[in-house]
Amino acid sequence: MRKQIVAGNWKMNKTFTEADDLVNDIMNKLESVSLKPETQLIVCPPFPFLEMVSDYSDDSYFEVGAQNVSDQESGAYTGEVSAAMLESMEIGYCIVGHSERRAYYHETDAIVAAKVNQLLKHGLKPIVCCGEVLEERESNQQFEVVKHQINDGLFHLTAEQFGEVVIAYEPVWAIGTGKTATPEQAQEMHAFIRGLIAEKYGKEVAEETSILYGGSCKPSNAKELFANKDVDGGLIGGASLKADDFIAIAEQF
Ligand code: PGA
Repeated sequence: MRKQIVAGNWKMNKTFTEADDLVNDIMNKLESVSLKPETQLIVCPPFPFLEMVSDYSDDSYFEVGAQNVSDQESGAYTGEVSAAMLESMEIGYCIVGHSERRAYYHETDAIVAAKVNQLLKHGLKPIVCCGEVLEERESNQQFEVVKHQINDGLFHLTAEQFGEVVIAYEPVWAIGTGKTATPEQAQEMHAFIRGLIAEKYGKEVAEETSILYGGSCKPSNAKELFANKDVDGGLIGGASLKADDFIAIAEQF
């Protein structure tokens, strides 16, 4: 059975002390709730806090993910962080192709593909984001856009490699805007994505792939989003910065 995942993307928020407080709060909350055994929590702090956050969890409460990785193996790439470095810190997951990276740092599908390759080479699971902007949704191009992103970013992989990938559908118009996709819009796109995977790798691989929804997901709307058969959890931005909200979302399965 595929995993149900709630992943918190802290983005560029929190100082060291604030991050320490947040992860402490998350741990305390987790002691008092019982999540379903198939629910996987992932916390994705900024790079400088990865080790501190990992030290808290020891993987028994949540896994730790990075928010970005270099498309290069190693060498003279000032400011970059390699997949080998993340591997050496036993980081399990990494977000790739987030719309903010695509929009502000010109991350193309080719770069996404190179980053995915680096992660898989070093044993990390990529959480690959896709999603259309508002104008594309308004002109009914969302399926074409997402198909392109998945095709060019991921479909060079073998079926075995693809088995390590988590997909996050994040309509850009819903990210940080308070505007959430309706459960019907999410289900429609998730089913479409699963169909693309089935066409490329077969039904079995498609049924095993976790497809998360992202974009203003919060405790009040998570239940109706997660109730859809092809929505396997969420990639949570704003609401992951509060332990109560983050855990409340994970309780909605
Ligand atoms: P949001 O962000 O939950 O704040 O909309 C989601 C994301 O960007 O992953």
